Amino acid sequence: MRLLLLGCSGFVGRELVPFLLELGHEITLVSRQRQPFAALVSERFACLQLDPSDPASWDNLGLLEALAAAEGVVNLAGEPIAEKRWTAAHRQLLMESRIATTRHLVEAMARLEHPPQVLVNASAVGYYGTSLTAEFIEQSPGGEDYLAEICRRWEAAAAARPPSCRLVILRIGIVLGADGGALGKMLPVFRLGFGGPVGSGRQWMSWIHRHDLCRLVATALEDPRFQGTYNAVAPEPTTMGGFAAALGQAMGRPSLLPVPAPILQLLLGDGAQVVLEGQRVRPGRLLAQGFSFQYPELPAALAAATNPALH
Ligand SMILES: NC(=O)c1ccc[n+]([C@@H]2O[C@H](COP(=O)([O-])OP(=O)(O)OC[C@H]3O[C@@H](n4cnc5c(N)ncnc54)[C@H](OP(=O)(O)O)[C@@H]3O)[C@@H](O)[C@H]2O)c1
Repeated sequence: MRLLLLGCSGFVGRELVPFLLELGHEITLVSRQRQPFAALVSERFACLQLDPSDPASWDNLGLLEALAAAEGVVNLAGEPIAEKRWTAAHRQLLMESRIATTRHLVEAMARLEHPPQVLVNASAVGYYGTSLTAEFIEQSPGGEDYLAEICRRWEAAAAARPPSCRLVILRIGIVLGADGGALGKMLPVFRLGFGGPVGSGRQWMSWIHRHDLCRLVATALEDPRFQGTYNAVAPEPTTMGGFAAALGQAMGRPSLLPVPAPILQLLLGDGAQVVLEGQRVRPGRLLAQGFSFQYPELPAALAAATNPALH
C-alpha cells in the first residue's frame, strides 16, 4: 500500500517504519525533524519535514499530493506524555499536538475526491481513567481525568474522517521496547541493581510488546475486517510490582527498592499519575478477531525486549 505516516519517527515509529517497508509498503513520513531516519535508504521511503499540528503544513503541495496518493494513513503524532512537568502550557501542548494534527488530517482528507481507504489512529488506555479494581474492555465508559479527556477528544477528531474511510482506533497500552518508553527508563536502574517498582506497586500495567503493536498496525491497514476501536494490549496485564519482579528476573537482577511516589510527583507534577496509577485493560476485540500475539506473556516479552537479538 502507499502510506502516509504522521508521528512515526519516535519510539514506536523506529520499529514500525522499517517493519512496514519490509512488508513491501511505500511510505511518506511527515516529521518536524529533517532526517529522522538518516540511515534508512529505500526507493519506497520519503520524508517531508513539516509539523502536522500546524495548519500551514496542510497547504504544502508535497503533503497534499502524498495524502491524495495514500491508500492508508497512520497517525501517532503527539507530544510525549510523561517526559516533562505538566504545567498549564504543557497540558495544552499534550492536547493540541494530538487534536490539531488529527483535525487537520481529516479535514484535508475530506477535501479529496478519493480519500485514503483506511486511517489507523492512536489513542491510549488512558481513555478509561485509572482504577485498582475495575477491568476495562472496549465498551467500558471513558474516565474523567485529563488523559481520558485527551483520548476522548483525539478519538472524536479521528471519527470525523470521510465516511468512505475505514477507521481503526488503537487504545495503546504501555509499549515495551528497550530503547524507549517506560521500559527504556527502568532498564538502566535495573542494570545497576537498584531497580524496583515505582510507587505502591499495586497499580495496573496493561502492556504490549512493540513488535506486536507494529504487527497490529500492519494488520489494521491491510485487513478490512478491522474496523472501530481496539485495546492494543497483551492478554495478561500485570501490576507494577509484578512487572518489576518479572523485569528483575529477565535481567538476573533483584527487584528491590520501590521508587517513592513523591519523587516522581516532584519531577512530573500531575503527569506522575501516568506512572503511579494504571488500568487493567483486556484486548477483547483483538482476541475475538483472532489476532495472534507473538508476545502474549510478560516474561517472554521482557526477555525479547531486553535482549533484541532474541526477536
Ligand atoms: N509508547 C507508549 O508506551 C505509548 C502508550 C500509549 C499511547 N502511545 C501513543 O502512541 C503514539 C506514539 O508513541 P511513541 O512512544 O512512539 O511516542 P514518541 O516517541 O514520543 O513519538 C511521538 C511522535 O509524535 C510526534 N510529535 C511529538 N511531539 C509533537 C508535537 N508537539 N506536535 C506534533 N507532533 C509531535 C513526533 O514526531 P516528530 O518529532 O518527527 O515531528 C514523534 O514521531 C503517541 O501519540 C503516544 O501518546 C504511546
